[in-house]
Amino acid sequence: MYSDTILKQWCDEHRLRGPSVKNEPAFYQNLERALDSRRQAHNLVSLKPRWDETVADFTSADFLSLTRTGRLREAFLAELALHPDFELGASGSRAQYGNYTYINQVEQEIADFHGAETAFITPSTYAANLGVLSSVPLPGDAIVYDELIHASSHEGFRLSLAEQTVPFSHNDPEGLREVLVRLKKEQPAFEAGSRSVLICVESIYSMDGDICQLQDLVRTAEEEFPLGNAQFIMDEAHSIGVIGDKGRGLVSMLGLEKSIAIRIHAVSKAIGALGGVIMGNKTVRAMIVNNARSLTYSCAPSFPMVASIRAGYRLLISGETQQPQERIQQNVKHLLELLTSDPIIDDARDEGILWIPHIEDWEQRDVQTHIVPLCTRSRHELFLFFHLLTNNFNAYPFSFPVVPKGQSRVRLVIHAHNTVEQIEKLACVISDWAAEMLDIENGESDKQLPDAARQLYAMQDALTV
Ligand SMILES: Cc1ncc(COP(=O)(O)O)c(C=O)c1O
Repeated sequence: MYSDTILKQWCDEHRLRGPSVKNEPAFYQNLERALDSRRQAHNLVSLKPRWDETVADFTSADFLSLTRTGRLREAFLAELALHPDFELGASGSRAQYGNYTYINQVEQEIADFHGAETAFITPSTYAANLGVLSSVPLPGDAIVYDELIHASSHEGFRLSLAEQTVPFSHNDPEGLREVLVRLKKEQPAFEAGSRSVLICVESIYSMDGDICQLQDLVRTAEEEFPLGNAQFIMDEAHSIGVIGDKGRGLVSMLGLEKSIAIRIHAVSKAIGALGGVIMGNKTVRAMIVNNARSLTYSCAPSFPMVASIRAGYRLLISGETQQPQERIQQNVKHLLELLTSDPIIDDARDEGILWIPHIEDWEQRDVQTHIVPLCTRSRHELFLFFHLLTNNFNAYPFSFPVVPKGQSRVRLVIHAHNTVEQIEKLACVISDWAAEMLDIENGESDKQLPDAARQLYAMQDALTV
């Protein structure tokens, strides 16, 4: 069973290594000591084996199922067949030989689809965030960011020339206003418009799955900075393919194309290929070309990569992904319906054992997202992960520092390929775990730990003997 394989791997990899490298050079001892502190905290990152069809996928980034159905591959092979003489490498950076006609055409198609002036393809979305943040903010500017923004933006902040980076409370327009007002008070150049503020947000937050309150945030920024020197950088990694007409994403769904200076889309998630796309006007593109060293001091994306991006985008443009997009909505609604009507889930929330922010008021939402966090007490995310896994459901656990302290969770990712049966069984399996934990909590069980955790610790003990 997959759960046995991964449990065994987990136990193996979490065995402390420091003592066994005592005779190795000090360099390796130091590295193993650093890794041991992660092992001790149970948050070592491990390269997990792929699972097979016996395990239900509630974790991959193949939201629209374009990879697993082979649909993207077919479209890609058809695109390659149109260009039999393609070259494998770009043979230079975008600023040099690597700027070929095909990449420019594909970029323009993508820009047109999203209602943007220009698009710029990058090796990954991570690289897109780094490229934008290292090239657009000028010295003296400020970056203001939602406190739950993705790690790649944080890396970008470190590379940026901005004088300060200031968080605002998650998805809170009044939190943003407070920061903007403070910045104007502290630095007259902001009031005068001679310095800018870049506001970084995500369309669908990758760990929380909630949608950005973009209209209110934009209104707040326009009220506080009427000269237009507060502009948004929107990371749409999770929304492409999932929300908006033909999966165009949040900015398009809200008709805010003209209000958002920079959009960053992912090709590595719903589209199922690899890469990122930066969208903005010609000024933004020129800044990237001139200043984003990670993008222009590096070889340009290759023809096959760009062809796979075009193939994926064409599936969106043709409307072929509308049905899987709708399936995600149906699946999420069905899951939320089942969880909302389960009294055990209510009890588990009241006891602080399991809480699922998405089930609050879900019926009032016009659009659902594919990310549903199951929040637990610290360490319990591992128990829930193993419980799901032993029932053949794969959804990964996250704890600090990926999410804030005290906000551990298992993140469910819902796909078009998840069946109704899987959704219904998943709801039961979550409920069983909550019931087991409630019994332990209320002293109605002679167990101290849920079954999956006991199984894990037993295996760990067996491996250390
Ligand atoms: C919000 C967000 N931005 C950027 C990325 C990086 O995407 P990529 O895998 O294309 O580098 C991720 C990936 O998890 C993400 O969730």
